[in-house]
Amino acid sequence: MSTKDINWDRRFSDRMVSNKKKAAALTNDLNENTDILGDLPFQWEMIKWAISSAFTPKTHNVNDGDLAEDDYNKENLYSILYNTYYNIGEVPSRSGPYRFTFNTWGFYLENSVIHPDDPQLMGKTAYSQHIVHDSVNKHIMKHPNPVIIELGCGTGAGANLIAKYMLPRCKYFALDMQKAAIETAKRLHSNDNIQFVHGNAQNVPIKSGVADIVIINETHMAEFENISEEDAKVFNEVKRLLKPGGLFCWGNVIPDSNWNSCSNYLKQIGMKKLEEHDYTDGAIKARVLDAERVNLYCDAIYNYLAVSYIPIIGPEFRKYTEILLKNFYRHPGTKLFNDMILRRDTCKHMVFKKRKNKEKKKK
Ligand SMILES: C[S@@+](CC[C@H](N)C(=O)[O-])C[C@H]1O[C@@H](n2cnc3c(N)ncnc32)[C@H](O)[C@@H]1O
Repeated sequence: MSTKDINWDRRFSDRMVSNKKKAAALTNDLNENTDILGDLPFQWEMIKWAISSAFTPKTHNVNDGDLAEDDYNKENLYSILYNTYYNIGEVPSRSGPYRFTFNTWGFYLENSVIHPDDPQLMGKTAYSQHIVHDSVNKHIMKHPNPVIIELGCGTGAGANLIAKYMLPRCKYFALDMQKAAIETAKRLHSNDNIQFVHGNAQNVPIKSGVADIVIINETHMAEFENISEEDAKVFNEVKRLLKPGGLFCWGNVIPDSNWNSCSNYLKQIGMKKLEEHDYTDGAIKARVLDAERVNLYCDAIYNYLAVSYIPIIGPEFRKYTEILLKNFYRHPGTKLFNDMILRRDTCKHMVFKKRKNKEKKKK
């Protein structure tokens, strides 16, 4: 299915006008925080970005639904996305007001524990599955007040789901390297048992051996062939943070061959694989089912951003960012979506256990 096949209702985007006022009111709170751009500075940054990118040659033809890594910097992209989410607030969608809290779409699952009408069904399904896997469930029975550390929590919707609704007796530390994401998470999901931490997963500011469970859900790691230095550092941190016998729950969409290289690396550092689940079909279905909402959201972004209304640069900016955003989300019709169809990229969950010292000796 191509995104062109979807006929969305323009009235939804027209309603963004009132939403924009809400967003502007919200941004007053932000002015004191230099890491988050308020409405006007943000609009200005986007105009500067659009003008500079209009004069920068692209290394790829954007029409093919792909963008080379060199064309953008991952951290910049996250920063733009999180500032947009923050400033734009909720956007109308057919199933009620929708806020982009999950940056990825997760996956569709027939027997998900999440209500089928939940607008965040796919992302919440992905997070809840980490907890319902057999080995994790058993581990939680043994440790009913688990300490959980999440690396790359984004705006904290997954942390909120697990800590507030699924395991209210846990203590949850959720870390992300984007200050704007952490600030949004604090504003939306503050709770007694959740602590949002700004920091890098390669060097986590938490002491060793404290976690019963470490979760990583979609952090754009292990995206390229072979393990990068960053991947190795993050895996080493996961092991360091876990108590002996603790579990690492990892979910991602990455090149299929990387699952093996990462599993081998984790084995080398003393982690044993307990479970592996392939959710690629569900991830494809999630993108198709959520396509209309993503189209509406992208539309809302363009309507909100002043740069879209500048002659010549505006339409160019729209074309460029549409491909960028939609490819990032693995939207139907993009290269990253097709990579899932071709099973070059697969969506999997894996559970690893940090071996206890005794187990190491037996080996
Ligand atoms: C695609 S988003 C997913 C967010 C959330 N886990 C979810 O599934 O909705 C990836 C997140 O990982 C974070 N991230 C990537 N690399 C990181 C690192 N080395 N340290 C901390 N956060 C990182 C990014 O800032 C971003 O918020």
